[in-house]
Amino acid sequence: MSTSIKRVDIIFAPYSEAPYQKFKEMITSVTPEFIVDELIASGLRGRGGAGFLTGLKWKYARNAEGDIKYVVSNADEGEPGTFKDREILTKVPRKMISGMGICAYVIGAKKGYIYLRAEYNYLKKDLQSELDIFHEVCREMNFDFNIEIFSGMGAYVCGEETALLNSIEGKRGEPRNKPPFPTNEGLFGKPTVINNVETFVNVMMVCRLGSEEYTKYGIHGQTGSKLFSISGDTPRGGVYELELGMKIRDLVNEFGDGNTKAIQVGGVSGFCVPRAKFDEYTIGFPSKLTGDSLPTGGSIKFFNSKRSMYHVLENFLEFFVEESCGQCTPCRVGTQQLLKGIREIKLKSMPPLYLNKLYDLAKTMKITSKCGLGQSVANAFCSIVDEFKEEIIY
Ligand SMILES: Cc1cc2nc3c(=O)[nH]c(=O)nc-3n(C[C@H](O)[C@H](O)[C@H](O)COP(=O)(O)O)c2cc1C
Ligand code: SF4
Repeated sequence: MSTSIKRVDIIFAPYSEAPYQKFKEMITSVTPEFIVDELIASGLRGRGGAGFLTGLKWKYARNAEGDIKYVVSNADEGEPGTFKDREILTKVPRKMISGMGICAYVIGAKKGYIYLRAEYNYLKKDLQSELDIFHEVCREMNFDFNIEIFSGMGAYVCGEETALLNSIEGKRGEPRNKPPFPTNEGLFGKPTVINNVETFVNVMMVCRLGSEEYTKYGIHGQTGSKLFSISGDTPRGGVYELELGMKIRDLVNEFGDGNTKAIQVGGVSGFCVPRAKFDEYTIGFPSKLTGDSLPTGGSIKFFNSKRSMYHVLENFLEFFVEESCGQCTPCRVGTQQLLKGIREIKLKSMPPLYLNKLYDLAKTMKITSKCGLGQSVANAFCSIVDEFKEEIIY
């Protein structure tokens, strides 16, 4: 591993103590306020993609009025090219469950759900055994919190937090309008914290290390480590825990096959970065401090010179057409028109200039679509068209 890519071995480190020891310690020795302050000080941002500050999210849910509150772990992991939550659920589920327990303590929840991607149902039995151990510990501590596994519905959009909540409620997995946000009106209308699997594990990291030590992980203004799912044209595909904030150039040097022409950061809903711009960006959460950082829930796809970027774009758009829930017009119709449009240009039944209209349509979808699915189509569409126009047209 090169020196500019910093490998970390915390998330998958084997359990080093009695089951749920740290969880017990936290809920008996520190106040919920202390935990919230530590999370805020750590700078921990959600690992599901959007990067909202976890401490702030928990604070909102804690302060929200409500006799009943919920904790939900988002284990839907539907973004193409992301397979890191599966590793956590397989190897160290206790760390995620501990994080959920601490969240329940902070916000005052008695019920939690793990929303498990339908394709991961084979993990259910082992997860349930781990939950049985956790529930026994809760009983011994007189801590009233129970977690249930809910099998996902096999749709990408159900990973969107409000669609996921609808799905648990037995409704169609369609995103809700926001606001209200789940921290105020979430599951069954009650205050809810919904976090990514890896976020809960990072909460445990902050609890163990303390916020000050935690912030020592990360480069170029980012804090903590992150799991990356590396796939595509790479000789080293797999899941890696790395410090956040590395330069894309360093990532390509480490994982590329020597012929990388572009990488897609953040899956189909993320951005395409061409070879000429590998030095311009770092990987992390954009902010005034960190500047040109690209966020990712974990997916990093490599494309080498043998790949047609037209086919990459066509493949992404086919995915969006299939996965749009159809609830709002810009996304339902827009995704279909973008796919139809690039095919017509390729077949020369539409002139190359038509691509400008499609580009405007993608940008319109960004500001008019109801949820992150439709809003993010422009990320991939515009970044691929900006950099590989010739390949799309000819
Ligand atoms: C279409 C779509 C799919 C999503 N899929 C996931 C997913 O599979 N897992 C996830 O953690 N977040 C996913 N998200 C993000 C969630 O809406 C939400 O931001 C996240 O679960 C919050 O957790 P975090 O703050 O810990 O990142 C998705 C968002 C969209 C718009
Ligand atoms: S943007 Fe797409 S996925 Fe989201 S609500 Fe609208 S149609 Fe459904």
